[in-house]
Amino acid sequence: MRNIVLIGFMGTGKTTVGRLLAARLVRPFVDSDKKIEVWQGMTIKEMFAKHGEAYFRQREKEAIARLARYRNAVIATGGGVVLQQQNMERLRLHGVIIALTADVEMILQRTARKDARPLLNGDERETTVRKLLQGRELLYRQADCVVDTTQLTPQQVVTEIMEFLQREGYLRGRHRGGAGRT
Ligand code: S3P
Repeated sequence: MRNIVLIGFMGTGKTTVGRLLAARLVRPFVDSDKKIEVWQGMTIKEMFAKHGEAYFRQREKEAIARLARYRNAVIATGGGVVLQQQNMERLRLHGVIIALTADVEMILQRTARKDARPLLNGDERETTVRKLLQGRELLYRQADCVVDTTQLTPQQVVTEIMEFLQREGYLRGRHRGGAGRT
């Protein structure tokens, strides 16, 4: 079965929703950022600090090339995965792409707590978010399905995704409950 690939800006809920969706579908969950950290033996924060963003993007591309060959998984990606078209082409080969979005205020709120995101560590967080979003918005819209998570709980987002997957015939076989049931 095709992978279900979650893309979207930082703070749109890819990891939380991905985990819930995987449990609901009884499929393995994979977080590409976590895989990169394990395979590189350091955190993303350390990678940015030591080697810079270009180095991270290269590791991210290698990781996506590996993960895109999986089958039947729910894959949560890092927010910048869309920056390299090859990543998207690879993920699309065996995957259905779901984009999660949220408004700027919600993104700032959801990313406020941790300092694990090197791109959002400066003082001008709002300006940075707006600028990054402007450059990426269209890229996220290449997805097969877009869910605005601003007003939704993670469970509600899962329900929307399930409805889409069922409607489009992506769900064959075993998963917990039907669309709309949480
Ligand atoms: C990034 C998003 C992060 C992580 C890295 C870069 C980005 O992942 O990959 O810090 O460029 O948007 P999350 O979207 O899971 O926070």
